Amino acid sequence: MAFSCLSIQIWICVLQIALGVLDNKGTEFLVAFMDNKVLHGHDIKPELFVTTDSRHLVHINISSPGISNSQLRTQFTVSRGQVHLVQIDTNYRLDHTESSQKAILIQSDKDIVVYGVNRESHSDDGYLALPTDALGTEYYTISYSPSYYYTLFTVIGVYNDTSVSIHLPNTPHLNVTLNGHNYHRNQWINLTLNRFSTLEISSVADLTGSHILSDKAVGVLSGNKKAVVGNTGKSRDHLVEMLLPVSSWGKKFVTIPIPERHAGDIFRFLASEDNTQITVHGLIEGKQFHDQIKIAKAGHYVQKQYSSGLYSHVVSDKPITLFQFSMTQQRGGNDLADPSLITIPPIEQYAARYTFTTPQYSMGNYTNYFMFVVKSSLKHGLRLDHHQLPRNTIYHHIPGTHLVAGYVKVSVGTHSVTNVNHTVVGGILFGMAELESYGFPVGLLLKPLNSGCQRQKAMEYGDEIDNDCDGDVDEEECDGKDDDGDGHIDEDCRCCAPKISIPNVIVGRRR
Ligand SMILES: *[C@@H]1O[C@H](CO)[C@@H](O)[C@H](O)[C@H]1NC(C)=O
Ligand SMILES: *[C@@H]1O[C@H](CO)[C@@H](O)[C@H](O)[C@H]1NC(C)=O
Ligand SMILES: *[C@@H]1O[C@H](CO)[C@@H](O)[C@H](O)[C@H]1NC(C)=O
Ligand SMILES: *[C@@H]1O[C@H](CO)[C@@H](O)[C@H](O)[C@H]1NC(C)=O
Ligand SMILES: *[C@@H]1O[C@H](CO)[C@@H](O)[C@H](O)[C@H]1NC(C)=O
Ligand SMILES: *[C@@H]1O[C@H](CO)[C@@H](O)[C@H](O)[C@H]1NC(C)=O
Repeated sequence: MAFSCLSIQIWICVLQIALGVLDNKGTEFLVAFMDNKVLHGHDIKPELFVTTDSRHLVHINISSPGISNSQLRTQFTVSRGQVHLVQIDTNYRLDHTESSQKAILIQSDKDIVVYGVNRESHSDDGYLALPTDALGTEYYTISYSPSYYYTLFTVIGVYNDTSVSIHLPNTPHLNVTLNGHNYHRNQWINLTLNRFSTLEISSVADLTGSHILSDKAVGVLSGNKKAVVGNTGKSRDHLVEMLLPVSSWGKKFVTIPIPERHAGDIFRFLASEDNTQITVHGLIEGKQFHDQIKIAKAGHYVQKQYSSGLYSHVVSDKPITLFQFSMTQQRGGNDLADPSLITIPPIEQYAARYTFTTPQYSMGNYTNYFMFVVKSSLKHGLRLDHHQLPRNTIYHHIPGTHLVAGYVKVSVGTHSVTNVNHTVVGGILFGMAELESYGFPVGLLLKPLNSGCQRQKAMEYGDEIDNDCDGDVDEEECDGKDDDGDGHIDEDCRCCAPKISIPNVIVGRRR
């Protein structure tokens, strides 16, 4: 179903595969900011944070053709360890259902990492921006419901003359008014988008599962204008993520509870195919936890609330996307933080190194957490800003895997994550403060997993490529043994030339 390489774009895809790995780093991004609730007439500017892992000076241009009389054009530089904050005029924030030209283009001469933060007073969330080379042509949207204000999504045009078809979900009372037409559940919205086009769809009835199909790659933001998540309190908060295209969805995940909370977490499992079966196997303070989920239809979701103690392994038989919602702060509780929407990176998309930065809080600083997943035997190889994790870090075993997960606090500013043993790491950045919070992946690969993995003829150690197409990246040890038990020896190694001599390591060599 998911084609990331279409007709004339095939050569671009071939070129991308030849150039290496697709991930959240890139040299071109098109982003936008969705509707958010202005409190007391004090409209706060949306923010873009830009950083890089390049040692060299990176030149960046931010531009937009402009709306009414506020043309956007700014230039700056960053290099490793620096973060640049750009404030965007509030006119760029989308308003309810609208078709407009409010996309913001970010171009650089070397790879950069970009985050968008959409903040109003006590209503904010952030997203990890995906570069245009990693975008796709098929998406399903996510929101929280009941919506409190509105559920939202925004389609961002990257190429001129892009035909976009949106199939609205089967939600009762869905009523979207666009260009004088009313659209209801199960109806199509078909239109053409150009580069810089932004189409925001807004509805009180839940838009989750809206199916977006296009003939050229588009970007999609999704979430809520302002939502109460769970029954824990009254406060409301903006929700947003930039969505992974269906072609990058995975089948295996590790969940980590939002740190230092007791309210529990809410998860939404969203299916891309009919008859999807999911198992959740975890530990809650040492006690086994099992859950089974069945989703009958593509685009449908199941929502679960799990304990704040649960660390789990999620396995699906078909590609899914998994979201975590941090819950509303309890009234009078000291359980700080508020709703945010977090894309849980699939294990298949874990990368070996990340550069990320913490956003700023309107009234002081967030308490920021780096939530990680790593191979148990290599956990002491994990480096945060070139240092080992603190000695008191707690590592939670993930049942049915060789992985452990945990979290550490990180200071305000930019950070790097690597592993001296060259293994992949999963990571989420989460921040909380009084009545505010944000969360998004620190980074991830964006390999087209579901459009046919190509077995690689040549393997490099720790190349972040799934050389044998088994869904795992660099899972073998290169020790002359079949570590993953698939009948192949050293076919997808994380590291280092073999210590024992194996004549001509051939990818996928049979035992
Ligand atoms: C930024 O814009 C200037 C012209 O205004 C151009 O010369 C330069 O190549 C651009 N840089 C990037 C990275 O796009
Ligand atoms: C897209 O269309 C606009 C308006 O017609 C035009 O100015 C622009 O050059 C086109 N962009 C590309 C990349 O073709
Ligand atoms: C909209 O697009 C879909 C998918 O391409 C198609 O099946 C449907 O007939 C279109 N509807 C209209 C009204 O053009
Ligand atoms: C949908 O919304 C429009 C605009 O608010 C309104 O005119 C129309 O009556 C609504 N339709 C239904 C079926 O509620
Ligand atoms: C926020 O953190 C920065 C860097 O650690 C520090 O310089 C600043 O004083 C902090 N601000 C507040 C209000 O705590
Ligand atoms: C991880 O790397 C360290 C430092 O290079 C090394 O001492 C250790 O043996 C490595 N561990 C494994 C399991 O490869």
